[in-house]
Amino acid sequence: MRVLLYTGKGGVGKTSVSAATALYCAELGYRTLVMSTDPAHSLTDSFGQHIRSEPTPLAKNLWGLEIDPFREIEENWAIVKDYLSTLFASQGVNDIVAEELSILPGMDELFSLLKIRNFYEQNAYDVIVVDCAPTGATLRLLHFPEMIGWYMRRLFHVQRKVVGTIRKFTDEIFSIPLPREEVYDTVERLYKRVGDMKAVLADPEVTSIRLVLNPEKMVIEETRRAYTYLNLFGFVCDAVIANKVLPDEVTDKYFAEWKASQQRYLEEVEASFGLLPIFKVRLYEREVVGIKALRQMAKDLYGDCDPTDHFAEVKPMRIVKRGKDYWLELHLPFTEKGEIHLLRRGDELIIRVGTIKRHLVLPHILAKQEPKGAKIEDGILQIRFGTS
Ligand SMILES: Nc1ncnc2c1ncn2[C@@H]1O[C@H](COP(=O)(O)OP(=O)(O)OP(=O)(O)O)[C@@H](O)[C@H]1O
Ligand SMILES: [Mg+2]
Repeated sequence: MRVLLYTGKGGVGKTSVSAATALYCAELGYRTLVMSTDPAHSLTDSFGQHIRSEPTPLAKNLWGLEIDPFREIEENWAIVKDYLSTLFASQGVNDIVAEELSILPGMDELFSLLKIRNFYEQNAYDVIVVDCAPTGATLRLLHFPEMIGWYMRRLFHVQRKVVGTIRKFTDEIFSIPLPREEVYDTVERLYKRVGDMKAVLADPEVTSIRLVLNPEKMVIEETRRAYTYLNLFGFVCDAVIANKVLPDEVTDKYFAEWKASQQRYLEEVEASFGLLPIFKVRLYEREVVGIKALRQMAKDLYGDCDPTDHFAEVKPMRIVKRGKDYWLELHLPFTEKGEIHLLRRGDELIIRVGTIKRHLVLPHILAKQEPKGAKIEDGILQIRFGTS
């Protein structure tokens, strides 16, 4: 099975490209599901057909799904949500605000990603195409497994033991309500599911992330940043899609300046994402809506290529042995050395790049060793581990 994720800055064409890709996959004979992690129901607009929160048939071999975030939260988080609401309310927070606070930011999107794992397990489709929320939200989401894992390890296990002991005496001496077993069970279940999902999304055999952009300054900057962080979190990007490129036949003087600037930015895109193939799509005369327009977009986009192919083999992380030392290598394009901070804590390595932190649980072989130094060469962060 293949999972293809399309992400990029707001408005660049993620939904249109996802819909076009899914349609093309279906027409190539793959059983395809296209789903959106974006609560704004935009796939419905792209296909011009109503898509429900259950796989909805759209064409031969093609199903669409729009997540209902409220339903997902009720099904997956209700017990914790009720506990947190009670907790906040006990601290004098107004009921409505308490209810809002009990849903962590990004949770609705998180549950939609968890759905991917369910479908993956059922093996009901050959391809799942995911129309992601804009880059920032997607990054935060992909960071979730590590964040929740960190809390679970550091906080929950410890607290669970303590709470178990305390509860033997009484709840009432405390001014805050203590969580019941079901709350821990729910968080633990979620932790496991998030871990399983991360394993699917970080498996380069299964998942490829594609960066959709427009040849414009701010869009390229944001996409570069996203590319670095995706690598840092261990996800594989295998293509860039440059959408809304003005075609040659536009000769109108009014657009001359636009064309020239797009040309410059396309060169910059090529220089920036050199390892990844760049697929270009022109700006059409009108919006890309309906099967016919989507089919045209897919044809222009992929030509004779199969969208389920692996377009690039860039491994975000690997461990190599040189002499007596082990080197952990992370592919981190667009990073200056000064921006990187490393901190070792037990079997964890904390890597900070700019404002984003990654807690990397070190593989067994490195956990016994000390980080001895780090350098960046050709966009690869190399950390040396040794015993002496
Ligand atoms: N190549 C193109 N030519 C013309 N119109 C396009 C093209 N690509 C996308 N569009 C149109 O641009 C608009 C935005 O596209 P789309 O909704 O796919 O972007 P998005 O990245 O999903 O946006 P959001 O971040 O809001 O989810 C839509 O109206 C779509 O039909
Ligand atoms: Mg969209």
